[in-house]
Amino acid sequence: MYLLSVLVIVLLVHFGNSAGDFPLVELYSFPQFSRNLETQSNPQSLKLGNRCAALPAAGDASLEILIKKKCYIDKTDYLYKMVKETQIYWLLRRPRRFGKTLLVDTLEAYFKGEARLFEDTNIYRRHIESFLWIFKYRRGWPKHPVVRLDFSSIEAESFPQFYHGLLVLLQERAKDHGINLDIAESVGTVLRQLIEQLGQKYGRRVVILIDEYDSPYKDIYVSNKDEASQVLGTLQDFYRILKGLYKSIRFCFTTGITGLTLSDCFLSGANNIRDITMNPGYAGIVGFNETELTQYFGRFIEHVANRKKNTSTEILSEMRRWYGSFRFTVKNEPLYSPTLVIEYLRSDGASIKSHSGTDRSSQFLT
Ligand SMILES: *[C@@H]1O[C@H](CO)[C@@H](O)[C@H](O)[C@H]1NC(C)=O
Ligand SMILES: *[C@@H]1O[C@H](CO)[C@@H](O)[C@H](O)[C@H]1NC(C)=O
Repeated sequence: MYLLSVLVIVLLVHFGNSAGDFPLVELYSFPQFSRNLETQSNPQSLKLGNRCAALPAAGDASLEILIKKKCYIDKTDYLYKMVKETQIYWLLRRPRRFGKTLLVDTLEAYFKGEARLFEDTNIYRRHIESFLWIFKYRRGWPKHPVVRLDFSSIEAESFPQFYHGLLVLLQERAKDHGINLDIAESVGTVLRQLIEQLGQKYGRRVVILIDEYDSPYKDIYVSNKDEASQVLGTLQDFYRILKGLYKSIRFCFTTGITGLTLSDCFLSGANNIRDITMNPGYAGIVGFNETELTQYFGRFIEHVANRKKNTSTEILSEMRRWYGSFRFTVKNEPLYSPTLVIEYLRSDGASIKSHSGTDRSSQFLT
């Protein structure tokens, strides 16, 4: 009897999946939880092609658009590698226009429990493949309250502006979940209240995604080094508090550009931050390698070649020279900047910009 029911479940998983319609999705929803935490109303799925159907428009490489254009290059194996560990705090630094924000989008959707979105991706298959997952289905696909903080959205020219901006940002995220915070308090207090109240409200640990943590520091450093060091002090307090709240946090992922160091805040104790910036196992987590580039964008490269009366090989070597020489570890193969590649292809090969160029208008995809 026991074996029979196992068989039935396995068949259910198998056929449900191959039909593209997944019956277990209902099984692992958390009734009480989902009442509180309504996620996307539109249960679209990431139907991956193995080539891009159309180039995304300039300035819009959101997850949703990339799904529509079948232009999402599946990096979810890297996600799986991270989320199956108990490690809480992660840091990834990459240059501008390297797809960090898209990675944060993906993590957000994953942790919000949008299983359907991932039906066609590797992370979904990994969940299914893990046999125990069937029995632990309630724990199989996670669903957490997610707090996403984009530090580059804090427009500040001075330390007080930054401090206030950060408070407002935290308050906004709290409001998203119907929580009211008194921002007359300090950043530390507000942050602590936010995480604790979210944990209480949903009965689950919180996921925190911080995009461009170093952006305000960089902006203020240009005009005022003293105030920049106050910003740094606040950032360090911020991370110290996050670290102290490890019991209420499931996963905390930070992206940035510079080498502004967070490790000071994480030096002591067990819950360190793991900086995967130069970790060979994560080298390809964002950016395109050449295989991905030619597989997904081959058609567009050919198109440019025709327009410019060159061969595809010539175009590819031009692209490699301008956008494709990033290495973050000693060994990894060179990677291409996704945003610059797409800009180049969209402009039929006209836009050659060096990555260090200061053209502000093309920073949108960072
Ligand atoms: C390029 O990326 C693909 C996955 O998209 C991977 O399978 C392949 O191994 C990578 N190439 C190299 C040389 O690492
Ligand atoms: C394209 O072809 C022209 C003429 O043959 C050549 O001068 C030019 O260098 C080629 N461009 C690239 C990117 O190789």
